[in-house]
Order: sequence, then structure tokens, then C-alpha cells
Amino acid sequence: MSLRINIVLFGIGNVGSTLLAQAIESQNFFRQRYGIDLRFPVITNSTVAFFEKDGNPNQWEVNFERSAVPFSVDDIIDYVKTQQLENLVAVDATASAELVRSYLPLVQNGFHLVAASKIANTLHGEFYDQLRKTLAKFDRQFLYRTNVGAGLPVINTLADLHRVGEKITQIRGVFSGSLSYIFNRFGREDLSFSQILQAAEKAGYTEPDSREDLSGNDVARKLLVLARELGLSIEWNDISIHSLLLPDLNEKNSKQEYAIGKELLDGPYRIAKLTQTDGHVLRYIGQLDVASKKLEVKLVSEPESSPLGRLTGADNLVEIYTESYGQNPIVVQGAGAGKAVTARGVLSDILKIAESVKRTEAVWNKATV
Ligand SMILES: NC(=O)c1ccc[n+]([C@@H]2O[C@H](COP(=O)([O-])OP(=O)(O)OC[C@H]3O[C@@H](n4cnc5c(N)ncnc54)[C@H](OP(=O)(O)O)[C@@H]3O)[C@@H](O)[C@H]2O)c1
Repeated sequence: MSLRINIVLFGIGNVGSTLLAQAIESQNFFRQRYGIDLRFPVITNSTVAFFEKDGNPNQWEVNFERSAVPFSVDDIIDYVKTQQLENLVAVDATASAELVRSYLPLVQNGFHLVAASKIANTLHGEFYDQLRKTLAKFDRQFLYRTNVGAGLPVINTLADLHRVGEKITQIRGVFSGSLSYIFNRFGREDLSFSQILQAAEKAGYTEPDSREDLSGNDVARKLLVLARELGLSIEWNDISIHSLLLPDLNEKNSKQEYAIGKELLDGPYRIAKLTQTDGHVLRYIGQLDVASKKLEVKLVSEPESSPLGRLTGADNLVEIYTESYGQNPIVVQGAGAGKAVTARGVLSDILKIAESVKRTEAVWNKATV
């Protein structure tokens, strides 16, 4: 018989709704291959939740539309207790800081956590440590492989190397799909920076307000997640972020001023492009030097023939330098965003937890026979 895993899904936007579609599509495969039955007894957006003990995700959209009701996280905790639901996983497919405040009570009430959101891992170190201590105390897991590179195996690769004592010396790469797209085209094509930025906005590569991409904050958050994964005690203010915005075109401008002022970016980036050494291209990278605990987000000039220089499309590329691998880094490359690859990554975290719950149950059953 399959082991039932009860998932409370917070967020049904791009990632959450795709996760449900993928879980439905792979339902039989998971049952037959792993003996794991993924159920979703609670599904929420920011204001309402749909509760159904059976948790069969088929028809969730119709049911949600028809019967979702206002909720609090306490209501959800009470519900799973009343319904005696076990093997609980809370999935955070939101970008909500408010929801992160509920992580501790969720863990204290038996939930494992899976997050696509980076917020919990990028708040102050005190919260980061408190969450880890609570997870250890209640013997729960927290997985978040999609925090960096979406579906790409960046965090997992790093965690595996770190776990076996491999000394990681440096991590360096292009962590933003939108900025990858912008600089990959800017290097090859005779178009202005603002023309390419507008094409990236139109194609949906950037956040709705592209200043969020250009500020470098998203890249900095990813770098912070990786640094902490390696056990480094780093705070947000320790990161050196070279924003791509300008003193007179930045987050302080109104949306309208920003929309009509983008051409101001053309001059500085044309000069940056023209003043490079021959055979070089601009790349916006994150760099973490482990020994000096230095985290930098910056614009660099890379040889066209290097892995970063050869990047195309909107790919991410992360180089992991370690002692054993020497001068030849481990390179992870591919689409670093998108709802399908991200949802698949979240599903992979859920399955990992489900399999460990299954192993624990098997040991327990053997011991009590
Ligand atoms: N999309 C990607 O390619 C990608 C890649 C890697 C990581 N991520 C991360 O994945 C997360 C989700 O991204 P997305 O693109 O799916 O976002 P999205 O389309 O904007 O969806 C967000 C969902 O979260 C819900 N929500 C907001 N606050 C909530 C709360 N307090 N409780 C419960 N639900 C809440 C929203 O509900 P309402 O509709 O009611 O507001 C919405 O359903 C983000 O943290 C993002 O950074 C995304």
C-alpha cells in the first residue's frame, strides 16, 4: 500500500498551480514507483483556503473556486489535528514574509517544510539559526532547492560536497535569467541597453518592475542562501551589491519616471561595452569567496571564450570551485527560472521528504513486529 503524504500548499500562482498539475500528472508513477501517494488536503492563496480531508488534487481548481474560505495558519494546524492527518509537508510557493512567521509553529506542529520562497533563508541570521534549531528539536526537514537556479541542482550539489567535507573555495556565476538574457544579447547585438531591457520585459523575463532585477538584490539573496548553506555567518549588509541602476534612475523614481527614463541607461552601458579589452563581454555575476567571506554582486568583463562568456538565452551558469577539483570548477548550467522547472524542483524536495518518512516508517514497523 502507498504511504500517504499530506501537503498543505500555500500559493497557487505560477509555481503552486504548476506543482498541482505535475502532481496530478505523475500521481500513478509516484504510487507505482515509490509507493508514495501525494495528497493536498489544504490549498490556499493569500486570502482563502480550500479544505478537503481526502486531498485528491484532481478537480482542485473547481473545488477551490466553489468552496475556499478565509483562513489563518492556526486554522490549518487545528484542521490537520482534528482530521488526524499525518506525514505533513507545508509547501511555501508564495513570496510572503508573513507566511515565514508561521514556519516555527508549523514545524512545532509536525510539518516538514519545502519552500520555493527565499525569504526564510535570507532574513537575519538569528531567525535562520532559530529555524534550524526548531527543525532539529522536532526532527523535521526543510528543503529549498529551488531558492537558487530554480530546478538546477545548485544547492543540492553544494550541500552534498559540503556534507562530505569537500572544501569549497569559491562560487561564481550568472544567477539571474533576466540579466543573463540582457547581457548575452547586449554583447552580441548592435542594440542599445534600453532596447534589450524592453525586449526582456516584453518577453516576461524580468519581474513586472524590472528595477527589481537591475538592483542586483535577487542575485544577492541567492548568494546569501549559498553562503549560509556552507555554514558562513553572513548578513544582508555584508554583501557588496553593484546595482545596475543609476544615481538618477533608480528605485526612488516613480514607475512612470522609470518607464520613460530607461534611455539614461544607454550611455553608461555603451561606454562599459566599448572600453572592454577585445574579445570580452559584460556579465552580471554573483561571487562568493569562502576564505574571505566576501560576497559580491557586480558587472564584470569576461573573455568571450569562457563558459560565462559563451552563455546564451536566459541560462544561469554557476561555477563551484573546490579543493579537489582545483582550477576546473564544477559547472551547473541551464534554465534558472520558469514555472515548470521550479515546480518540478519543489516536487523533488517533497518526494525526498516523503521517501525519508517512508524509510523511518519501515524501520519503526520492523522494530515493533
Ligand atoms: N516563477 C519562478 O520561475 C520561480 C523560480 C524560483 C523561485 N520562485 C519563487 O517561488 C515563489 C512563488 O513564485 P510564483 O511565480 O508562483 O509567484 P506568483 O505567481 O505571484 O504566486 C504567488 C502565490 O502566493 C499566494 N500568496 C501570497 N501571500 C500568501 C500568503 N500569505 N499565504 C498563502 N498564499 C499566499 C498568492 O495568492 P494571491 O493570488 O491571493 O495573492 C499566489 O497564489 C516566489 O517566492 C518566487 O521567488 C519562483
